Amino acid sequence: MRPSSLLYLAAAFAPLSLAVAQNIRNTGKINEFYAQNCANCHGPKLEGGVTPGNQKVPSLVDDEWLHGGDDDSIAKSIKNGYPEKEMPPWSATLTDKDIRSMVIYLREQQFLFKQGKLKSEKLPDSFAGKTQLHNFQLNTWVGDLIEPWSLAFLGPDKALVTEKLGYAYLIDKGKRAPRPLLGLPTVDTGGQAGLFDVVPHPDYAKNGWLYFAFSDPQTRDGQPVSLTRIVRGKIKGNAFVEQQTIFQAPVDMYPKAGGPHFGGRIAFDGKGHLFLTIGDRGTGPNAQNLGVVMGKVHRIKDDGQIPADNPFAKDAKAFPTIWSYGHRNPQGLALNPATGELYDVEHGPRGGDEVNLVLPGRNYGWPVITWGMDYPGTPMPGSEGTAKEGMEQPVTYWLPSIAPCGANFYAGDLFPKWKGHLFVAALAAKELRRLEIKGDKLVNQEVIIKGETDANRIRDVIGGPDGALYVLFRERIARLTPAE
Ligand code: HEC
Repeated sequence: MRPSSLLYLAAAFAPLSLAVAQNIRNTGKINEFYAQNCANCHGPKLEGGVTPGNQKVPSLVDDEWLHGGDDDSIAKSIKNGYPEKEMPPWSATLTDKDIRSMVIYLREQQFLFKQGKLKSEKLPDSFAGKTQLHNFQLNTWVGDLIEPWSLAFLGPDKALVTEKLGYAYLIDKGKRAPRPLLGLPTVDTGGQAGLFDVVPHPDYAKNGWLYFAFSDPQTRDGQPVSLTRIVRGKIKGNAFVEQQTIFQAPVDMYPKAGGPHFGGRIAFDGKGHLFLTIGDRGTGPNAQNLGVVMGKVHRIKDDGQIPADNPFAKDAKAFPTIWSYGHRNPQGLALNPATGELYDVEHGPRGGDEVNLVLPGRNYGWPVITWGMDYPGTPMPGSEGTAKEGMEQPVTYWLPSIAPCGANFYAGDLFPKWKGHLFVAALAAKELRRLEIKGDKLVNQEVIIKGETDANRIRDVIGGPDGALYVLFRERIARLTPAE
């Protein structure tokens, strides 16, 4: 069982008085409660989707039921949930009467669905978009992908894409190689584990080093465990060769409890260092424990050595690669090329997704402080509030959650007014966002693309050497160019 499901269980026993704050009786509207509490998994139009932990979520309108389709069975599903499958129990948030209203709402929506009046629209393969500063044309650049995670440009016409399930493909002039790259390390791909970031060294043209982050399967006391590891190597033909491990925690630190939140992003500072993220692995207190690698942003040299001026390098009890701590699941990490400032984008709990200006030695607070709450709408177990002395505040947080993932600053010339803006990909919200940030302040924010179906979940976004913006949807990479 995943620790995240333990959180759901804990929430089920939370005292009712604490839960009332987010109760439907405050909004009075069951459709709003659905939109705020259920839509991120079951979809805005109730057609199903995937959970944050990558579990399949059933449609609530197709009249096919895993657990019985009579009113009582549906009410029971909502009340008790299926925590082992990430469906939270709602008994701490909803009364029996509220649940009855929800069943009625589901019936009404089923009726609309049968009449064809409730259908999520997949974004077209090509379309034009209007935004505050630029209009764009979106076209598919590379199709036929399965959960692409990261895209690296290796030259003007050459790129490489990773897929979560452990494959990477070379791309030449917008054409994907027929076969995956050979010789990649073995990757754990269960739940949120997988092959994550791929980033070329800033001097790639000279040295050919390419860096991969992935969940590394190991055995600890006879039990399978995995944790984020970084290797670098070079491309020869269709193979990944000359591999070296750049970052790996001792195997006795790999969590036996399993769990989600691997992090898995890499960013170079252009001064011989690279930053990497590791999530808390579903155990919040990891993020406050300087003795473990989980829940941290780390800094190492590009060959894996530990910089002597790291903030905790001289603290015998701390892991010497730690740069900052108190992070939950940073799946975005981006250096502003103009200022050298480092930002992380974190999957928070519900309502607590964050952008942080990452500074050395600072504590970003998770799980002690958070702007979010637990999935069933109950307070985050163990959290003390939204602020505390000695803990950093985010640049911004998203309420409701958008499930942000990859982020990059735009530095190209095709969209001159977007220069220096942070683009953020979002999974659950199926959005591409543009953020204008000055230091630790958010100046402006805009949704550039908004999808509805799972095919439009966005995992990453990056500017290409041609100045176009490349967006990684669930099944394809799209390319944005300026339009009239
Ligand atoms: C974090 C993700 C998540 C959220 C939030 C969530 N669900 Fe679910 N739900 C699931 C998953 C996953 C299943 C399927 C469980 C299984 O496979 O047994 C499910 C199953 C169900 C079922 C049973 C469906 C069947 O086919 O029998 C109902 C009814 C349901 N959810 C209603 C709701 C309602 C109402 C809400 C909001 C109050 C909600 N869910 C919120 C993930 C979620």
